[in-house]
Parts: sequence; structure tokens; C-alpha cells
Amino acid sequence: MRLEGKVAVITGGARGIGRAIAERYAAEGARVVVADLDAAETARVAGEIGRDSGGRGAIGVGVNVTSQASIDAMVATVVEEAGRIDILVNNAGVFEMAPILEITRESYAKQFAVNVEGLLFTLQAVARQMVAQGQGGKIVNFASQAGRRGEALVAVYCASKAAVISLTQSAGLGLIKHGINVNAIAPGVVDTPMWDVVDAQFAKYENLPLGEKKRQVGAAVPYGRMGRVEDMVGAAVFLASADADYIVAQTLNVDGGNWMS
Ligand SMILES: NC(=O)c1ccc[n+]([C@@H]2O[C@H](COP(=O)([O-])OP(=O)(O)OC[C@H]3O[C@@H](n4cnc5c(N)ncnc54)[C@H](O)[C@@H]3O)[C@@H](O)[C@H]2O)c1
Repeated sequence: MRLEGKVAVITGGARGIGRAIAERYAAEGARVVVADLDAAETARVAGEIGRDSGGRGAIGVGVNVTSQASIDAMVATVVEEAGRIDILVNNAGVFEMAPILEITRESYAKQFAVNVEGLLFTLQAVARQMVAQGQGGKIVNFASQAGRRGEALVAVYCASKAAVISLTQSAGLGLIKHGINVNAIAPGVVDTPMWDVVDAQFAKYENLPLGEKKRQVGAAVPYGRMGRVEDMVGAAVFLASADADYIVAQTLNVDGGNWMS
């Protein structure tokens, strides 16, 4: 019960890594807010998590992190229903790929709108609430191994995740005086619905059968396999807990050894 009594908002919490973190945070004693695009789906997922959370309940809130009005409404709803916010997991993200010569402005705008702008202004709105509460907080951003180095076919997504690492550093330095720890997790390759999209796009650009890219990247991980969503939750609990009080502005690789820094 390392998050007992805490209110934790998880963006992109309806599926994949976000959902796994929401389930584990609830098991660790947090009142969880599943914040995602489809309001009905967030309510359904929150209902499932709430049933197993020892009466604390979970809240589902529809949010589109590309809209300031939507972010502000989400924060207001959480404060109204749960009274406060102690933890934010900035996990919502989107992936697209294209060779440099084929990148479109639309794809660039979409990825930066969610992965960078959405992450920053969700962090800002929640941090303002945490500062007003006066008791600090924990913010965990989702970066990626893609933010550590470029990839010929993944330029925009890589750049967006490099921006997450940089924003984590700046926000970490700017907010620690309020007792708010900002850190990030950089997953390697994790088998989620997002990686089904990644696999299909690599299949197109590298002329591979479906599933082959997943097999290749999994075989290349020093640990010996692709990540599972459960592999992400331990780091997410740690960075949201009091055990991480002295950790500031860091991006932690959780990638089976793919990247060392
Ligand atoms: N899966 C991987 O291998 C991997 C690797 C490195 C980093 N990541 C990052 O981890 C995070 C979670 O990835 P995942 O694999 O679970 O992805 P996913 O696609 O399975 O889930 C992402 C969730 O974010 C939500 N979302 C997307 N746009 C949104 C918006 N505008 N507003 C609110 N919610 C929105 C989606 O509805 C979805 O539920 C992402 O930031 C991703 O970039 C994933």
C-alpha cells in the first residue's frame, strides 16, 4: 500500500501501459482517475478497477490532452469528485512513422500536439493544482527509448520523446521547490495496442510480414523478450512514492537493457 490515500490521474489510462499502471496504483491504495479520449470507455475501465480497489473506487474522466479546455475540465472534475490530485502519470501518447522525405505537417502536428504540448499543459494544469494544495506531488512523464536517439523511419516520434526528456528536466528543476517531483520513464519496446500499429507500419515500410518486426525487436532486447505492460508498473509506483522524494528531473530507462545511460 505504497500509495495509500493518494489521488492519481493517469492520462491514456484506458488501455496499454496506462491501464496497467492504473490497476497497480489502485492495488497500492490510490484512488485512481482513468483519463482518456473516450469518456464511456474510461467509465467502464474505472468501474472494473474500482470493483477490485477495496471500496476506494476509481473515477473515469474523458479528456483530450490536445485541448486546454478539456485538460482544465478534467482537473476540475477530479478536484470536485476526489478533492485533490497527488500524482499525475502523463502517459497519453501517439505514434506514427514515415521516411524523412515523406513526413507530413499533419503527422508532425498530431504527434507534437499529444506527446509534447498535451503532456506539458496537462503537467502545468495539474502542477498548479498541486501548488495550490501546498503538499507537493509526483509527476511521471512517459518518454521512450525513441527519445534517446533518432531512427530513420521514426523522426517525428523520436523528436517528440526527446522533447519529453527535456521538459522533464526543466519541469523537474522548476517544480521541486514546491515539493513536486517530476521524472520520466523511458520504456523500450512494450507489447501494447500501440506496438500493433508500429508493427503494421514497419511491415509496410520494410516489406515484412505482420508480426515480424515485433519478433525482431523482442529478440534484440538484452533481457530476451519484448516488454509487457506489467514490466512498467514497478518503476511507475516507485517514482510516485515517497521513496522517490530525492529523485528529480530524471528519465529512467525501463527497457530490458536496450539503452544504457
Ligand atoms: N508500447 C511501447 O513500446 C512504448 C515504448 C516507449 C514509450 N511508450 C509510451 O508509453 C505511453 C503509453 O503507450 P502504450 O503503448 O500503452 O500506448 P496505447 O496506444 O496502447 O495507449 C495510449 C492511450 O493514450 C490515449 N490517448 C491518445 N491520444 C490521447 C489524447 N489526445 N488525449 C487523451 N488520451 C489519449 C489512447 O486513447 C490510449 O488509450 C505512450 O506515451 C507511448 O508513447 C510506449
